[in-house]
Amino acid sequence: MAARPWLHLLVVAAAAAVLRVHGQGAPDITGFVSIDCGIPEKSSYVDGATRLPYVSDAGFTGAGANHNVSAEYITPSFSKRYLNVRSFPGAPRSCYTLGSLAPGSKYLLRAVFMYGNYDGLGRPPAFDLHLGVNFWTTVNVTAAGAAVLAEAIAVVPDDSVQVCLVDTGAGTPFISGLDLRPLASALYPQVNATQGLALLGRRNFGPSDATLVVRYPDDPYDRAWAPWVDPEDWSEVSTAEQVGGLPMAAPSAVMQTAITALNASKIIEFSWDAVPNHVYPTPRYICMFHFAELQSLDANATRQFYITINGKPFYRLPVTPDHLFTNVVYNTEPHWGFNQYNVTLNATANSTLPPVINAAEIFSVMSTASVGTYSQDVSAITAIKANYQLIKKNWMGDPCVPKTLAWDGLSCSDDTSDPPRITTVNFSSSGLSGAISLYFSKLTRIEYLDLSHNNLTGSIPDVLSQLSSLKVIDLTGNHLNGSIPSGLLKRVQSGSLKLRYGDNPNLCSNGDSCQLTTKKNNAVYIAVPIVAFVVVATLVLLLCLLRRKKESSVKPQNEVINARPRSQNGNAHGLPQLENRRFTYKELEAITNNFKRVLGRGGFGSVYDGFLEDGTQVAVKLRSESSNQGVREFLTEAQTLTKIHHKNLVSLIGYCKDGEYLALVYEYMSEGTLEDKLRGKDGNAGSLTWRQRLRIALESAQGLEYLHKACSPAFVHRDVKTSNILLNANLEAKIADFGLLKAFRREGDTHVSTDRVVGTHGYLAPEYAAVLQLTEKSDVYSFGVVLLEVITGRPPILRCPEPTSVVQWARQRLARGDIEDVVDAGLPRGGYDAGAAWKAADVALRCTAQAPAQRPTMTDVVARLQECLDLEEGRR
Ligand SMILES: *[C@@H]1O[C@H](CO)[C@@H](O)[C@H](O)[C@H]1NC(C)=O
Ligand SMILES: *[C@@H]1O[C@H](CO)[C@@H](O)[C@H](O)[C@H]1NC(C)=O
Ligand SMILES: *[C@@H]1O[C@H](CO)[C@@H](O)[C@H](O)[C@H]1NC(C)=O
Ligand SMILES: *[C@@H]1O[C@H](CO)[C@@H](O)[C@H](O)[C@H]1NC(C)=O
Ligand SMILES: *[C@@H]1O[C@H](CO)[C@@H](O)[C@H](O)[C@H]1NC(C)=O
Ligand SMILES: *[C@@H]1O[C@H](CO)[C@@H](O)[C@H](O)[C@H]1NC(C)=O
Ligand SMILES: *[C@@H]1O[C@H](CO)[C@@H](O)[C@H](O)[C@H]1NC(C)=O
Ligand SMILES: *[C@@H]1O[C@H](CO)[C@@H](O)[C@H](O)[C@H]1NC(C)=O
Ligand SMILES: *[C@@H]1O[C@H](CO)[C@@H](O)[C@H](O)[C@H]1NC(C)=O
Ligand SMILES: *[C@@H]1O[C@H](CO)[C@@H](O)[C@H](O)[C@H]1NC(C)=O
Repeated sequence: MAARPWLHLLVVAAAAAVLRVHGQGAPDITGFVSIDCGIPEKSSYVDGATRLPYVSDAGFTGAGANHNVSAEYITPSFSKRYLNVRSFPGAPRSCYTLGSLAPGSKYLLRAVFMYGNYDGLGRPPAFDLHLGVNFWTTVNVTAAGAAVLAEAIAVVPDDSVQVCLVDTGAGTPFISGLDLRPLASALYPQVNATQGLALLGRRNFGPSDATLVVRYPDDPYDRAWAPWVDPEDWSEVSTAEQVGGLPMAAPSAVMQTAITALNASKIIEFSWDAVPNHVYPTPRYICMFHFAELQSLDANATRQFYITINGKPFYRLPVTPDHLFTNVVYNTEPHWGFNQYNVTLNATANSTLPPVINAAEIFSVMSTASVGTYSQDVSAITAIKANYQLIKKNWMGDPCVPKTLAWDGLSCSDDTSDPPRITTVNFSSSGLSGAISLYFSKLTRIEYLDLSHNNLTGSIPDVLSQLSSLKVIDLTGNHLNGSIPSGLLKRVQSGSLKLRYGDNPNLCSNGDSCQLTTKKNNAVYIAVPIVAFVVVATLVLLLCLLRRKKESSVKPQNEVINARPRSQNGNAHGLPQLENRRFTYKELEAITNNFKRVLGRGGFGSVYDGFLEDGTQVAVKLRSESSNQGVREFLTEAQTLTKIHHKNLVSLIGYCKDGEYLALVYEYMSEGTLEDKLRGKDGNAGSLTWRQRLRIALESAQGLEYLHKACSPAFVHRDVKTSNILLNANLEAKIADFGLLKAFRREGDTHVSTDRVVGTHGYLAPEYAAVLQLTEKSDVYSFGVVLLEVITGRPPILRCPEPTSVVQWARQRLARGDIEDVVDAGLPRGGYDAGAAWKAADVALRCTAQAPAQRPTMTDVVARLQECLDLEEGRR
């Protein structure tokens, strides 16, 4: 028997710049990223073979230097990609960042390396490749003129992914090209959040052109199918007809050719060698074999064969390929433990024809289970890096992971189950200048902060005192001024914090006797000229009495903004609640990073994520041009929120009225809406416990009660619903969206009639929907619906079997005495106090009584929900 054909790994002949003419319907390339590394910044071109646009890598990495390969290695058949490289001398880890991805989706990443003696040293290097924080493969370039290819298929957890080259002491890492392709989720079922595949070989058997690599557009995912022809061992078969198949099948252009056994032995054999590396000394292999019958067989003919690997069945049944339709045979449990893998396709005794195979893919399994540093810590340290323009040699990639590559000056927590957190920042003697970055206060698990012996100026920010884990701050040897802020002094006095600040000539260490020498903060914090709003708004000027101002007004979120020194003449004290900041549109662009991340969309426009300069996270609601909610609603909301403050109403940090642009800036509610928490698509739906639900219901009720009772004339929210109840990181509930708010006078008039129904279907009180009669009791009704949603986990309108309101649905079941049937099935049985559940359901039914007079007031509702919560807590 002739020598077994071998699958040659990684090294592909970099040939195949065959120009293919594309038809009209070239597959979608949305999400493709195609990078030619080492070409001049901003340059781009269309690849001759695939017609895909390739761009310079300059926008994807901040490191390295460009080189041309040596002329002797340039052959006309080489793709343009191989003619230049970017190399990274002296850097332990160098990364490319690819963004705008869909978190949790599958991607193919492909990196190519053609050394071509670009550095004139004649020594091809070896180095490691990481995908994010996980080891991918070792790139071992053994021939100066060969292109080495590395490909990974993995689920990307975030909206960006890093590909990093890691110097392992065997030469300077370099790269020629980098591609990213989105994959449909049905492809490569072995790939999940914690397991990826690293390609060993992907072969197209028996193509007529032995130099042609099939790629895009023949393969819509632009996988590279390398030809494998071996006429001494195999005979080739092909068809001109299209070969169909499921999404995971090889593309038709690949399936149209195949090989069969050459003679009567009826056996096809081929092999691969295990390729161990220092991370995977015993690699584990996954195979995907693609079969299709390309001939029309006589009725008496059969083609049937077994697949074995090293003599063991790969698949226990014989394979009979379908005519012009691809079958994919693959394993999910990897094969491992051999140095060599012999694949045999052996015809069954019944078979009249030899076996056939069209394509094969061999992968080794790679773990993608390591998680990167806690994302808020990454954003903060990245902002700090940018702020001080810190160019430390290993400040690339993840700050903490892997440990061996953690950034100089940082130490991190070492808990394997959770994302690592930054616990120490030591920038002693690092040449830092300028103010102490407020982003330090976002490193919420930091214990040691050493900024000694730099050239830091300005005052010490008091927000640092809120870092509860912080044990030591060393500010020795800087040019700080002002005094030690009171918060920090308190921590020092209580012994929870050591503060070193010696050798700061301008710093006054005795807080009380120091004169503040700092200038006031920039004049961007202007007290809101409410009057301007009122003039524009055609609304009656509402006088809110703020009856319980002292107890219920919350401390404004924006600590730093309000912490600025107040003038001595005393009138400043009454003002803080009105002291909302006015933003320019330009500032909003900066705060939201050009409106990059959308938190939600509503009738008003979109809500964006943002950070103030001090690191406070905010939500920015920007009125869109096409908004059906008008300027008037916008102004109502702004005006209301500047006047009323309660811990269960979302608070306003500032607003923007800049030309056409209208926006409101709120405190950030990290846990989103109650609706999403109860029924959202985001996987955490139904995750609230019964106790959390009761607390959220109670707090929402308190917010509404405040609206109804604290102001004169009273406010009616008019759009109470679960999507207008927001939750912060502590799951505290706050009512939002006051754009439809309406005031009316209590005395005499018991209701107002409005000109049109506003609000949301499913939540509208019957009298309001029918005769436009509006009182606080309309809000009580809507709140009853919210309460039923909280109890049942169901939407206000149930769709099955026919549209029914949750009110009617619950009423029927409760009438049968059936509380278990009503309470959200997602809650564990016995996970709640049945008495409390009955009581809560009773409150909800009273709130949703037909006649407004029969409904309780929000004050009653608050009292009853408090009792429910007490019952539930008593159970523990
Ligand atoms: C068939 O081919 C195999 C290897 O390719 C060879 O060993 C064998 O002798 C051949 N058999 C015949 C009958 O030609
Ligand atoms: C690469 O070669 C081109 C000319 O072919 C030249 O313009 C360019 O400067 C070279 N780049 C480097 C980094 O040497
Ligand atoms: C690279 O390959 C060569 C030849 O196969 C081998 O000697 C060398 O140890 C390999 N280097 C690494 C880092 O794997
Ligand atoms: C991914 O697949 C592997 C192998 O089947 C399995 O052990 C692992 O639990 C899976 N991970 C997830 C997150 O499903
Ligand atoms: C199958 O049938 C055809 C005629 O229908 C005949 O020519 C051929 O020899 C048969 N082949 C076998 C393997 O029996
Ligand atoms: C694979 O086949 C070759 C002969 O072609 C044989 O020498 C080798 O032992 C086989 N390997 C295994 C693991 O079966
Ligand atoms: C192929 O299958 C036949 C029976 O169908 C069996 O006798 C033979 O040993 C098998 N050969 C190999 C290499 O598995
Ligand atoms: C062989 O063919 C017979 C008759 O067609 C069938 O009953 C039997 O299951 C086949 N054997 C195998 C291994 O497929
Ligand atoms: C920071 O590093 C310096 C030396 O670089 C060292 O003397 C100092 O103790 C370190 N500080 C902390 C808090 O570890
Ligand atoms: C510190 O900063 C001040 C003001 O920016 C500058 O004048 C001075 O040269 C700096 N000193 C050092 C040692 O960098």
